[in-house]
Amino acid sequence: MAKYRIALMPGDGIGKDVMDAAQIVLDKIGLDAEYVPADIGWEFWRTEGDPLPQRTIDTLKSCDCALFAAITSKPKEEAEAELVPELQGQGLVYRSPIVRLRQTFDLYTNLRPCKAFKGNPLNYRDDIDLVVFRENTQGLYSGVEFHPLPEEVRTALETHSPRMAAFESVSSDDIALSCRIFTRQGCQRIVRAAFEYAHQFGYPTVTLVEKPNVIRETSGLMVREARKIAADYPGIELWETNVDAMAMWLVKNPQTYSVLVSSNMFGDIVSDLAAQLVGGLGFAASGNIGDDFAVFEPTHGSAPKYAGLYKVNPTAMLLAVKLMLDWLGETDTAQSLQAAIARVIEEGKVRTYDMGGQDGTLDMARAVAAHL
Ligand code: NAI
Ligand code: MG
Repeated sequence: MAKYRIALMPGDGIGKDVMDAAQIVLDKIGLDAEYVPADIGWEFWRTEGDPLPQRTIDTLKSCDCALFAAITSKPKEEAEAELVPELQGQGLVYRSPIVRLRQTFDLYTNLRPCKAFKGNPLNYRDDIDLVVFRENTQGLYSGVEFHPLPEEVRTALETHSPRMAAFESVSSDDIALSCRIFTRQGCQRIVRAAFEYAHQFGYPTVTLVEKPNVIRETSGLMVREARKIAADYPGIELWETNVDAMAMWLVKNPQTYSVLVSSNMFGDIVSDLAAQLVGGLGFAASGNIGDDFAVFEPTHGSAPKYAGLYKVNPTAMLLAVKLMLDWLGETDTAQSLQAAIARVIEEGKVRTYDMGGQDGTLDMARAVAAHL
């Protein structure tokens, strides 16, 4: 029996292109793994009414972790219209399979490294090495939302917060409410994950990106918990920065920062900003990590106009493989893979269109494999 069982979910569009690239590199690495294909994406929504069929969840439960490439998703009405005729009018609702994976497997850490590879013409600067830890299950994306505002909720808010007086004259029909829910444990585990990573990979600082001066209770809870956890890591400094200021600092002096940690929405925004500093979608990988399962993916979508053309940059997907190797404890192999990617980028002989070249997805994967 192989040492690892790894699910492969290519999904839609260029998801298949970049998963083929990953397979080339995995074959060269010769990891002692069994690869199990699993269905996800638009095709399964259309034909089965579920983009993440139960059999996929079952497969994932039998695996150590998964590689996921990309899916297509569309707004509610469009999604319903594309269902096969037999499934129409049954009230099926499209729900993001990625969000469901995060919830089903409690993948509370979203890990987004943004490292500038030397020689990448898309770099904002060449000395950037940021690692964003974004809380992946709570906060403003908890999904606890109301419109109109139910009367019981309104009464409770008015009873408990004098600030509600500001909305006294507004009808409940005209009020929308999205709840930003933080738990102490949720704050603790994402901050601890960030410190553990900084400790493991030798980063000197962890910067907490919140807004406690204004959002006192939620951001405040995160700051207080972060300070307690920081005390367990005497070699690593905790920096605290407001998210708005952080947006400026990341443009002005991104090289000053290393590990960043934030809640769901702020982390979402900051990680996209950080990704663009090092080349954008072709370079941005992420890990969705829980205590005993993880899904690794490039952050780009299915880019339908490039589907099947094998033109897009596979680097984000290959960096997702690197993150997976780290998580499996295959850190030497992960390091070699990152070094091989770095060499291909620095040599500049093989480049996809986004880097100004004309080479294909698989050319780039083969070049990386050749350096392994
Ligand atoms: P997208 O990320 O698919 O592509 C936007 C553009 O970025 C592409 O047209 C291309 O110019 C560039 N790009 C993306 N990946 C690239 C790569 N590896 N190399 C070079 N260039 C690359 O975003 P878009 O067009 O907004 O969405 C397309 C579909 O993907 C939609 O259905 C959307 O819902 C879905 N999506 C899925 C995501 C996921 O699976 N995690 C994330 C984002 C969007
Ligand atoms: Mg995002």
